[in-house]
Amino acid sequence: METRVIKLDRKNIKKEDFIEAGEILRAGGLVAFPTETVYGLGGDGLNPDASKKIYAAKGRPSDNPLIIHIADKEDIMKLAVDIPDLAWKLADRFWPGPMTMILKKGPAVPKETTGGLDTVAIRLPSDEIARTLIRESQVFIAAPSANSSGRPSPTKAEHVIEDLSGKIDMIIDGGSCDIGLESSIIDLSGDKPLILRPGFITREDFEAVAEGVEYDRAVIAKTPEKNVVAKAPGMKYRHYAPKGTITIVEGDTDKVIEKINAEVALNESRGIRTAVICSDENKSRYKCKNVYDLGSRKHELDITSSLFDVLRQLDSDDIGVIFAESFDELRLSQAIMNRLRKAAGYNTVRV
Ligand code: TXA
Ligand code: MG
Repeated sequence: METRVIKLDRKNIKKEDFIEAGEILRAGGLVAFPTETVYGLGGDGLNPDASKKIYAAKGRPSDNPLIIHIADKEDIMKLAVDIPDLAWKLADRFWPGPMTMILKKGPAVPKETTGGLDTVAIRLPSDEIARTLIRESQVFIAAPSANSSGRPSPTKAEHVIEDLSGKIDMIIDGGSCDIGLESSIIDLSGDKPLILRPGFITREDFEAVAEGVEYDRAVIAKTPEKNVVAKAPGMKYRHYAPKGTITIVEGDTDKVIEKINAEVALNESRGIRTAVICSDENKSRYKCKNVYDLGSRKHELDITSSLFDVLRQLDSDDIGVIFAESFDELRLSQAIMNRLRKAAGYNTVRV
């Protein structure tokens, strides 16, 4: 299949630009598009065949449910039932934006889209291209991240092209994603609100609106605990990991740098292509041929928006051994460290 790539300027969006994408979606085809978090691989969420195509294009296990993207808050009533008051409060506060809510599934949503679950994930993105696409196509767009299963989520159209070109109908290139990490997921289908995936909207943000918000234990664990299975099916799968091995080094900054420099020297002396992932603040202190600077700790969005790109670069640069600083003290530390720990297979040393 030939994949058409069209480039759009977020600041100058015209409805006509979405005519063809809308036709594709209504006919059950697939269109990748940017959101403020990561690129999504969109298909008609109410069409079981479109959902099946999404799983096939990504190589994704079919028990891993999709998020349905809407453009108007009220549309949750068309997709979910038994909607608690808290859902409306959270929608008023955080939508449009990087929050996904899990609610009890309504009859319109096919099980193919929810991976067989009785609940449905819904998000109203803030990205203008994403929202215009949903509105103009008049489709509730099921969209997982537009990567092949297991790879880092795409934050640029080039990443989508790399993974899915030839497998989907169209890619809308809207440039880089602002946040670069997937949405925060909050489950409202149980007794108390539970964060299933940490993201730009933090527990503290949720607590300002809702009482008793907790994290699903599995997603903030520093090491996987026995018998604790993540509640979001997708969180149990291997994800983000580059081909090389990553070790996260935690502790006092001076000691971290000393330890990483020693490990780099050892690995480089053995002829292994070695890299460091760090922040701007410490960049110049590393003695390593391949230093990947995520940005300043003072600009957390620089860090979040560059992480997945760097994880992909490690592969294209054929790096075998990687050492990463920890980002434990940031507002977005849960979101960042959740991805980094998974990429590292929970391989951490403390100095
Ligand atoms: O930011 C995002 O959320 C991006 C953009 C495209 O919106 N989408 C995204 O989708 O990250 P995906 O499919 O890569 O991740 C969705 C996660 C998976 O871990 C999945 O298991 C979980 O949400 N999920 C979806 N429906 C669920 C449900 N009904 N119950 C529990 N977890 C669910
Ligand atoms: Mg994903």
